[in-house]
Amino acid sequence: MTDDGAMADALARLEDLRAGAIATISGTDSSAGLEEARIRFTGKKSDLTAIMRVMGTLSPEDRKTLGAAANSVKGAIEQALESRGAELRARELEDRLERERLDVTLPGTPYAIGYRHPAMRTMRELIRIFEQMGYSVYEGPEVEWDLYNFQLLNFPPDHPSRDLQDTFYVTDDMLLRTQTSPGQLRIMKEQRPPIRSIVPGMVYRDEAEDATHLSEFFQIEGLAVDTNITLGDLKGTLTEVVQRFFGRERGVRFRPHYFPFTEPSAEIDISCFACGGAGCRSCGGEGWLELGGAGMVHPVVLQNGGIDPDEYSGFAFGIGPDRFTMMRGHITDVRLLRHGDLRFLRQFN
Ligand code: DAH
Repeated sequence: MTDDGAMADALARLEDLRAGAIATISGTDSSAGLEEARIRFTGKKSDLTAIMRVMGTLSPEDRKTLGAAANSVKGAIEQALESRGAELRARELEDRLERERLDVTLPGTPYAIGYRHPAMRTMRELIRIFEQMGYSVYEGPEVEWDLYNFQLLNFPPDHPSRDLQDTFYVTDDMLLRTQTSPGQLRIMKEQRPPIRSIVPGMVYRDEAEDATHLSEFFQIEGLAVDTNITLGDLKGTLTEVVQRFFGRERGVRFRPHYFPFTEPSAEIDISCFACGGAGCRSCGGEGWLELGGAGMVHPVVLQNGGIDPDEYSGFAFGIGPDRFTMMRGHITDVRLLRHGDLRFLRQFN
């Protein structure tokens, strides 16, 4: 049985639905609103579903017609949803780009730029100077045998000079080196003359620290062994090193001293940075400040290193780079160089 009234009514409602839906969809202003419209116009409880309920009362012919009309309306609604969706997405993207605009002209987050610690800078500069003068760098161990740190350097077990260099013992015959001088023996046992070597590194002593003493401090040992090495070579070498580091106006003085492993021995002084040698408070009225020790390698030490003292001679020195840093930076308390206080360290940047 066919109900013409119901069919016409359904077709009219479909047309209304198409017009109403398309108007609503094109007036929708957000993705969320569009989603609501999609459910309302195409979902299970939509007007479209309601209209299609008359299907059961129609003739097969009308059913076909109404089905086609419904599909066309559904297609039109879906198309409207699709194109409005694309518009809205494009607009929302544009809004977001506008909102989250990146201002590439804003200054960035600054990185703190590091710089070398003044003590390490001194070490590197001194090593560089020696390298330029033809010296090679040898690194000995910080944990050293008593044999190398003392005995082979002519400090027998009960030698009073050991008292000046008490240290931290690992075992009875192994210790934290008190000086870089054991490097001399290690070099001589490995290399044949001509030798021009330095041994830079940390040394350790059981020391009550004060403004001019640390229990861990830097040394640079030097060793030159060759035929006809003289005290003049030693003086010339150290004067050159000091002047390259501090400037040509600096004077160097050699003062007689005693070390078990050199003969003759001397302490090396540099003219005071404050008074230039006249004597002032910085140098305790002396006009000179101590930089290290030096001397001609003792024949026994050459022999201990497997080198014939009748054929070869040598000079050696040990300088204290922390003193160099203090003098150059006018630092009156050496402990400041180990405390890591940036307010202090930044001054040397
Ligand atoms: N090793 C000595 C010290 O720490 C310094 C020294 C003096 C080194 C004389 C030398 C030297 O090579 O010849 O007190």
